[in-house]
Amino acid sequence: MTRPAVEERYLLDSQQMARFVARGFLRFDELVPQELNRMVMAEIDAGTIEGAPAGTPLSQCYQGSAIRKVLDLPEIQGIVHSLVGPDPLFDHDAVHVREPNQGEAQGMHADSIIDTRMAFDVQLMYYPHDVPLEMGGTLLLPGSHFRRVNEMDIARYQNLQGQIPMVCKAGSILVLHHGIWHCGRRNRTDRRRYMFKVRLNPQVRQLRLWNTRDLVEGYDAPQEIFAGQGDEDDIQTILSRQEPWFEAAAGRLEIINRVRLWRFLTGDDSFDAHYWLTRLENVPVATL
Ligand SMILES: [Fe+2]
Repeated sequence: MTRPAVEERYLLDSQQMARFVARGFLRFDELVPQELNRMVMAEIDAGTIEGAPAGTPLSQCYQGSAIRKVLDLPEIQGIVHSLVGPDPLFDHDAVHVREPNQGEAQGMHADSIIDTRMAFDVQLMYYPHDVPLEMGGTLLLPGSHFRRVNEMDIARYQNLQGQIPMVCKAGSILVLHHGIWHCGRRNRTDRRRYMFKVRLNPQVRQLRLWNTRDLVEGYDAPQEIFAGQGDEDDIQTILSRQEPWFEAAAGRLEIINRVRLWRFLTGDDSFDAHYWLTRLENVPVATL
């Protein structure tokens, strides 16, 4: 089934993309209307949400379901298109329900085996009701997506500096890089907790899939950026921002990893943030 192209105004901008590259996630609060949230929760209770065989184009999934309506929201289409392109493939989904006052927190993990591709999958997480802190929800470690691990090998790690609990209002969306460290927290309330997740594989090379107008403008003034006079939120600043768990050496490594991913996404092999990657590439061949 062919779907109309995403309107440009719903695509992410370069700053949002740079934040995804730097931190491994983006969140969008209260994106899905309440009516749809209620419909999805009713479908979860009824057990009627059905995924598809792995590798099915997303446009062919969830026909007739409220989940289809969520995925068809222009804002969601814009987010998905910007990150993984048109009509990505369904990988797997999960409907997570935590009963009231249920059990234990999940161990910290990444959702796959060690996966060192530069191309990336995204995980779209959808929270159809308010998630207060005591309800648990997803916990994630910003910036961890370049530390590729083997699924639960990191489960012993607890309370990492800078971790973020997904406390949100109904209809909020989290979109994660496949490498990010995360876990489900305990539900300490007397209400059921719902979360829907779907993993998406790109079908196209992830090259400037978002709205890149601002990127072209940003490239007009590289000297200003190098002199530290650029906008607070210029791309280099975003890609250089430290996470609380970084120590000095880790911070440098993460910046280089971010620059590599930014080059991959923009196709600009000369891009750098404060000379970090360029220095490593300096292999002179000239002779005296
Ligand atoms: Fe997970």
